[in-house]
Formats: sequence, structure tokens, C-alpha cells
Amino acid sequence: MTSVPTAREDILALRSYVAGEQIEDTIRLNANEAPQSHWIDSGQAALNRYPEVHPKTLRDRMASLFDMPAANILVTRGSSEAIDVLIRAWCRAYADSIITTPPTFDMYRVYADIQGVEMIEVPIRADNDFKLDTDGVLDCCTSSTKLIFICSPNNPTGTLVPEEDILKIVRGRRNKSVVVVDEAYIEFSDRNSMARKVLDYNNLVILRTLSKAHALAGARCGAAIACEEIVDVMSKVLPPYSFPTPVIDAVMSALSGDGINQSTEAVAGIVTERDRMFEALKSVNCVAEAWPSQSNFILVRFHDLISAQAQLLNDGILIRNFNNVPELEDCARITIGTSAENDALLKSLTNSGKQSDG
Ligand SMILES: Cc1ncc(COP(=O)(O)O)c(C=O)c1O
Repeated sequence: MTSVPTAREDILALRSYVAGEQIEDTIRLNANEAPQSHWIDSGQAALNRYPEVHPKTLRDRMASLFDMPAANILVTRGSSEAIDVLIRAWCRAYADSIITTPPTFDMYRVYADIQGVEMIEVPIRADNDFKLDTDGVLDCCTSSTKLIFICSPNNPTGTLVPEEDILKIVRGRRNKSVVVVDEAYIEFSDRNSMARKVLDYNNLVILRTLSKAHALAGARCGAAIACEEIVDVMSKVLPPYSFPTPVIDAVMSALSGDGINQSTEAVAGIVTERDRMFEALKSVNCVAEAWPSQSNFILVRFHDLISAQAQLLNDGILIRNFNNVPELEDCARITIGTSAENDALLKSLTNSGKQSDG
């Protein structure tokens, strides 16, 4: 067994909470639960009982979905929770640091700030097609750098980071930092997940989610995929009983063979729509630039973002404004919706162009 030298010593030494045993067909008098079912569930969901401490059934199902051994999977409440758990387990407050490559998903910053962890930024630039500065990342690492977050495909730019670039950082930081590759949107890209690489590298974590391609954002279900040692450290920080029974049941039904086939079909439809929208947006007057995307959204620069957004809002359409983010002046992220929703957006923007021309 390899160890995880970079995690916090006090977390490695932490005594985990010992939950009451959960054994089927026993009289459960060990968890201070109510003996009677609640009237709302007529005994079906057993809501009077605590759920599994860590949801093993769900973990096994997600392991087969991601084609990984169950021991390499930690199920979390959305991949957001995995980000939080990693930062808390690896970084000491006011001592350690993480690296991010902005513009990128903002929750890395939020969880780092909550934990009192310095965030070193290695920006990606619009005039360089938002390519990752691999050497810049390696050069900025210090002895306090515990985690490096790489989002691929990146939110909000939609850019994929080449696997070789990621592995160069993983190799360069072996025994020093853990590289976290956030693959929230990987199903919409033309590349496979890097998940199986965690079997070769003990300083690599892959984050996956059911919120995007699997249409289950409301169920709050994601996973960290890593070597067993990392999974063990993370599970020490994860609270027990955090997955409610109805969520476990709903996700288990959604991940049936049929459910997965439906998601795969829906993803193919969104990719087709994304490519149509990319071409269409480029020829709308009020759009200055659109970046090719490997995700379920497109980053667009407007000639005048404020008036385009006002026109859209007037037509009941929301897009995400990134105007205040460095490199993204006048930019917004447009999620790919249904064909009808996308057409409504195009129609509204075309009208907006006409009004400003007139
Ligand atoms: C890049 C990225 N990672 C992680 C998440 C979190 O997703 P969830 O917590 O729903 O799994 C998001 C959500 O938008 C995201 O864009």
C-alpha cells in the first residue's frame, strides 16, 4: 500500500465516528431511532431509520457507471462536496495553498476561503484560446501547495486540457501535491474520462457528477475517484448519514440500464444542439466572439453584454454574466437548452441586434 504523505497529519490520525451497526433482520435498538414509521411514508422508505453511513449501494452502482472498482469511489453530495472535503483534508488553515487556473469554476475559491487557504492563480488567456499554462502551474508550486485544481472541460470556457499536460503536472508533483481533475462536463466532450489513470498515480483525483449529463442536479450526487488511500482519507472527513434515503432510492432508479441509455441519447442531442448554436451565434450581430466548447454551454463575448442580457431578460431568458471576471469582459455563458429554448435565445438576440442597429 502506498501512503498519502500530502494529506493533513491530524486528519490521517483522526479517529472516525463509529456509527451503530446496521444489520438486516435485526431489532434495531442501537441508534435512538423511532420504532414507528412516519405516516407520510407508510413504511415504504423506512424514513424512521438512518440511511447507510456511507451509501454502499450507490457507490457500487456509480462504480459500474464509471467503470471503476468500488474501492476507488467516494460518493459525495454533488462534486462540490468533494472539492470541500479535499480542501479540508489536505490543507491546513493559514499554512497551505491550492493552485487554480482562472477563469474557472468559482467554488474552488469559495471552499479555499472558507478553510483559510491561500489560492495561487495561474490564469489562462482568451488570446491563447484558454490553453492551460502547464509549466506556469509547475513553476508556481511551493512546498505549501497541496492541491492543484484543473477543470476539464473548463467551466466557463468549455476548453479541454490535453491528458498529457495533466499527466505532466501529476508526474511533476508526485509525493508533493494532489492534482484534482474536475470532469463535471466530460460526457459532452470528445474525450474519455481520465478516471482509470488513478490506478497508476496516487496523487490524482477525478471528480464526476450526476448533475449534468445524467440530469440529476436536484439529487446532489457526485463522486471522487482516486487511489484507495485518498478515498479513505476523504471518507474520514465526509459526514456520516449524509445521503437521505429518498435520494439514494431516486438515484438508484435513475441509474438503471434504461435511465443510462436515455442520458446517453440526451447528451448526444445536446452536443448536436451545441454545435448548431455555436455556428448560429457566430453570425448574430450582437455577438463579437464565441469559443468552441466541449461542454453543455458556450462562452460568448458580446459587443454590449449589458444590453444583450437586458433584451434576453425581457424575453424571459437567463444567461450567466461573467463581465466582472478578468479575461471575460462582455462575456456570458449560455447553457444549451432544448431546441425550442435555443431558438428562442437566437430570436431574442437577433432582435436585440436589430434594435441596436436601428
Ligand atoms: C466545473 C464544475 N465542477 C463541479 C460542479 C458542481 O457540480 P455538482 O456539485 O452539482 O456535482 C459544477 C457545477 O456547475 C461545475 O461547473
